[in-house]
Amino acid sequence: MARYVLNDEERNEVAAIADGYLARYPVWEPLEQADTIRAEAQRLPVGVRQFLVASRGAEDALIRVANLPVDDNLVPTPGSWQIAQKEGAAVREELVLLLIASVLGDPFAWTHQQGGRLVHDVCPAKGQENSLTSASSEQQLTLHTEDVFHACRGDYVALMCLRNPDAVGTTVSTLDAVDFAEPLRRVLQEDRFRFFPDDSHHVVPTHTSENPSALEERPYEVASVLFGPADSPYLRIDADFTDSLPDDAEARRSLDAAAGLLAQAADRVVLNPGEAVFIDNYLTVHGRDTFTPRYDGTDRWLKRTSVARDLRRAYVHTKSRSRLLA
Ligand SMILES: [Fe+2]
Repeated sequence: MARYVLNDEERNEVAAIADGYLARYPVWEPLEQADTIRAEAQRLPVGVRQFLVASRGAEDALIRVANLPVDDNLVPTPGSWQIAQKEGAAVREELVLLLIASVLGDPFAWTHQQGGRLVHDVCPAKGQENSLTSASSEQQLTLHTEDVFHACRGDYVALMCLRNPDAVGTTVSTLDAVDFAEPLRRVLQEDRFRFFPDDSHHVVPTHTSENPSALEERPYEVASVLFGPADSPYLRIDADFTDSLPDDAEARRSLDAAAGLLAQAADRVVLNPGEAVFIDNYLTVHGRDTFTPRYDGTDRWLKRTSVARDLRRAYVHTKSRSRLLA
């Protein structure tokens, strides 16, 4: 695991860059400002930039950056992402995450997830304790590729921790730690699987957080679980939102076996305030431990964005020159 800890001087430099930016651009519109933020990221301390570029080149499965600035007087954890959106909570932390993420690639968003916002809030919400989204708490989030349903899913899932008082773990499992022996490997390399949008994507008009649509109502892609170089493949799987093609029992069994092997190899990353992790979404699946929500303003709170190594791939696929994918 690659990890860089900013020294206090570097942390103060990052804080000054963020404060200076927000003074120049007092209206926070990250989707419109993403290119400007990316240019601003070139002013980040050289040590952290070199670390990120080297980690990107090495295809490190997990890239961690610690001691990023978080406001000493951070507002209470919002009760849901909708409340966070309304209140514009923790804008400076969103900017810090986007600055760091911009060294690795292009942050982007989806029209049908968290209102199309470029940076999401991950915090527990009342009534969502057992959902299969990041608003859950008492329900384990099983290991998954982020946005498994889409060819243009991110190369990295970026998470920055603002608060994590109960040391709730982000679970991770990396391809390197798993041996998909034959004949399992061969089946996983074949286009015998359907990848559906997870419950956080409101792609069906009647779909709500309280009443998610049935899986079969959702659009899906057919593809393989393992893809790319045969000797060092990439991975795409989400046990809750992946299925075999209809009547393909061997593919279904292989999917369950692959999910089981990944679960056995799972590790935990506990993020502390001011720490960001960039999870390589082609090499690593991630999830989250269960926890008991407090709902008193001190709950676990992360900022999240998705990062593409090159957004032009999405422009071609979606036939739209937009950072907001439909
Ligand atoms: Fe996720």
